[in-house]
Amino acid sequence: MPYAHIRGWGKYVPPNVVTNDDLARKINTTDEWIRTRTGIAERRIAGEGETAVTMGIQAAREALQMADVDPAEVDLVIAATATPDRIFPATACMIQDAIGAQGGAFDLSAGCSGFIYALSVAAKMIEAGQVRRALVVGTEALSHITDWSDRTTCVLFGDGAGAFYLEADEEPGGLLAFELGSDGSGGHLLTGPIVGNSYTPAVAPELSRQYLVMHGRAVYRFATRVMGQAAEKALRRAGLSVEDIDLFIPHQANLRIIESAAKHLKLPMEKVYVNIHRYGNTSAASIPVACCEAVEEGRLNPNDTVVMVGFGAGLTWAAAVAQWPKEVGRRARSKPRAARSWLRNQRARLLSMRHRLGHQVDELLEAGLNLSRSKEEAQEQ
Ligand code: ACO
Repeated sequence: MPYAHIRGWGKYVPPNVVTNDDLARKINTTDEWIRTRTGIAERRIAGEGETAVTMGIQAAREALQMADVDPAEVDLVIAATATPDRIFPATACMIQDAIGAQGGAFDLSAGCSGFIYALSVAAKMIEAGQVRRALVVGTEALSHITDWSDRTTCVLFGDGAGAFYLEADEEPGGLLAFELGSDGSGGHLLTGPIVGNSYTPAVAPELSRQYLVMHGRAVYRFATRVMGQAAEKALRRAGLSVEDIDLFIPHQANLRIIESAAKHLKLPMEKVYVNIHRYGNTSAASIPVACCEAVEEGRLNPNDTVVMVGFGAGLTWAAAVAQWPKEVGRRARSKPRAARSWLRNQRARLLSMRHRLGHQVDELLEAGLNLSRSKEEAQEQ
């Protein structure tokens, strides 16, 4: 049975930084309130033209460049997102086209747990022998569904994307175990925009049709309850214990929630990765972005046992235990590798143009045929 190994990772965050003080100039809040209640100091907000798709493409390209893999060989793209540009076409399909991948592509919606859910689906498909190379992207433009006049939510969220590239390998290791959970009875505690004219009975009618709405305290209680438990269950499944953790990478939603999970697990904060001060809560992007930065900062090292835990809308929660790869990323930014990656991206662009042109030619031919048929019919009458 093949094992699913992490072979590349990448991230993208918009350059536009919005500090707590920037928000305090627009709404009734303070830097002090936001920092002490959440640990957030600033967040990145998507600029003009930046969306879950465009950010996801950047993160995906970085992950593929690190692995030095030809995107044409990628069998599967899963995008975890709560903020797709549209319900369909799927964000994953847009990413697949842009990077030049050729396999299946679909979106997965599990709120802030989405990345770990997607990772588990991809890993299990690799283990089952259905695919050999998979790209898992967590990408969010939460600013697009944020009510910027609601101080109870708008201070919490940010935008960004992260991606893992996975590969089948006969060597044991890689993604070792998962734990997934859900409780739809709490769905109303954290809701997003209503789609079209639909009405979900679980959603209170007074909730916003357009924006993210959250019962912060209830979500807080839920999160502190499930995070530690999910990590413990996943560790048990991997045949490991808390003592084996080299680095714990929790979903970055609130520093107090992270500290409470660490306390539950009796893990010192030195073994817990935190970057919430820089980005706020980027939902499905938060864990892969945190992994990338933990590597950059030398906190996540080859062969480390890493536990990643998410929780969020649904309500959902998810944990993954992984062995960080031994030999990846050292030459990721080397010039020849960057050049190959550039060439592959150009080829993907050209391929996409050729496919799009093909669709247009089909449409033109179809229109021409229809015209000639109707002329013929008119002549016959
Ligand atoms: N600035 C100043 N005051 C504020 C702000 C703000 N930005 N927001 C709320 N307040 C006020 C409230 O109005 C309230 O005032 P009141 O006592 O006069 O009514 C007071 O601060 C306390 O409000 P609480 O909601 O009780 O504050 P709490 O300590 O619970 O912190 C928070 C709120 C940060 C939202 C917290 O509940 C939390 O982090 N919850 C979890 C959120 C989360 O993790 N979501 C993740 C899932 S996201 C996903 O899946 C997309």
